[in-house]
Amino acid sequence: MCDFIRKHGHANIGFATGSTPLGVYKYLIESYQKGKVSFQNIQAFNLDEYVGLKPGHPRSFASAMKKDLFSHIDIRLESIHVLDGSQQDMDQECQRYESLIKNNPIDIQILGIGMDGHIAYNEPGSPLDGMCHVVDLHQESIESSLDYGFDNIQDVPRQGVTQGIGTIMKAHQLIMMAKGQKKAKLVEKMIYGEVTSDFPSSVIQNHDHVLVCLDQGAASQLKEEDYERY
Ligand code: F6R
Repeated sequence: MCDFIRKHGHANIGFATGSTPLGVYKYLIESYQKGKVSFQNIQAFNLDEYVGLKPGHPRSFASAMKKDLFSHIDIRLESIHVLDGSQQDMDQECQRYESLIKNNPIDIQILGIGMDGHIAYNEPGSPLDGMCHVVDLHQESIESSLDYGFDNIQDVPRQGVTQGIGTIMKAHQLIMMAKGQKKAKLVEKMIYGEVTSDFPSSVIQNHDHVLVCLDQGAASQLKEEDYERY
């Protein structure tokens, strides 16, 4: 990512929240602090958000990205783009975001995999060519949200708003990250399984430029010969 920014002078980058990319964000902050990279000319696009939370809400994904990355680097405030889950007319909000991305195609998109195989908040059953949309969160996603600072499950919003799989697949480069043994079976399915909307992350098999970054636990179900390939 740093090489790309240095080479091109600018970049449109899609960011995922959640625990997996935190090490990457720490690395980006350190690289900035050491003067190795500047984010002044990047445009940032968050992947998804909870419906019903204002961007400034402490549990929103917008706040998480600010806390974990944006407030520590020199990105311009007006270059941070988020889906606003507090809008009255969410269809209009989705259209706004979709056309914003259409006009500013994503160069590099960071992705994680959810415990039900979701990417962004595209839950199982989401169309593989879908655009930004509102989604009813599945139970696994609601439960996983407890890792994101909600005190109890009742406080977790029941809906999300997300870039669609079609939106994500238009990004030039995907970087899919997974960490820990608990993701091993999911990673195996994502890489070897059928490409199906029942397991949304499997769609990355159809992308021409995808880098899968795994720690040992998450990679433990891969066939040995694939270690190098992936
Ligand atoms: C969040 C997002 C989600 C997460 C996924 C994994 O913006 O897009 O799809 O990437 O739920 O979350 P963690 O990394 O917390 O396991």
